[in-house]
Amino acid sequence: MSDANLSDWPTSLQESVADKNQFNLEVESERKLCELCDYLYFSEGELHFHSNELGEMSFNFEELYQYHQRQNYALSKEPLAKALAIKGTAEKRMIWDTTCGTGKDSLLIQFFGARLTSFERNPAIYLLLKDALRRFPLDFNLVFGDASKLDIIVRPEVIYYDPMYPSKKKSALARKEMRIFKDMVGEDLDSNEFLEWAMKTATERVVVKRPLEANPIKEKPSASYVGKSTRYDMYKIF
Ligand SMILES: C[S@@+](CC[C@H](N)C(=O)[O-])C[C@H]1O[C@@H](n2cnc3c(N)ncnc32)[C@H](O)[C@@H]1O
Repeated sequence: MSDANLSDWPTSLQESVADKNQFNLEVESERKLCELCDYLYFSEGELHFHSNELGEMSFNFEELYQYHQRQNYALSKEPLAKALAIKGTAEKRMIWDTTCGTGKDSLLIQFFGARLTSFERNPAIYLLLKDALRRFPLDFNLVFGDASKLDIIVRPEVIYYDPMYPSKKKSALARKEMRIFKDMVGEDLDSNEFLEWAMKTATERVVVKRPLEANPIKEKPSASYVGKSTRYDMYKIF
């Protein structure tokens, strides 16, 4: 992965890629046209990912936030809020979204009301998220890395986990953004170990997002909350 001219990037993003060992991103020192590779580039005030095969992707939190503002959610009816036990009280729960991805679930969790920290271990996705937050700041901490490998100072009450699962078939109709995202991230093959760690780390509950038809990653959830296309399996910590 490369960027043609890092000096065009906002300072906060430049600082993030300064530690190349941490990010393992190749940064090209000179602008050059690259017809056959995937790369990040900064243009028209935002960071984009260019997939040679699939096209362009960047994240936009403003549109999403405005969409949620129009929805009039009742927390007692929303499967995600119920699974995370967000009740809209003044006392916000400490939640870790350990699989930030496109940031859509993080944004919704933050919108419902939480003290949220979100983790992303894919360096290119992390930079796209960081740029989306630079353009539209939201009240959650974004951390680069695998939550299960970092030193923990305070254990969260709730851990939310949404691993990338193998899709049954390649749908030509899948939205372009989702196809690029899946291509970048691949599959999360460490779900079982991660869940073991999550169960030892959360103080109150672990919530795992699954496709409706999929088996739970770990048997016997304490409860499952079903949405239109997904299910949230909740494991209570005793
Ligand atoms: C299915 S996507 C999550 C989608 C996300 N819920 C959303 O709203 O877009 C999984 C994401 O989590 C990241 N990920 C998977 N396991 C992780 C871990 N242990 N620590 C940090 N990030 C992880 C992957 O790189 C990928 O971006």
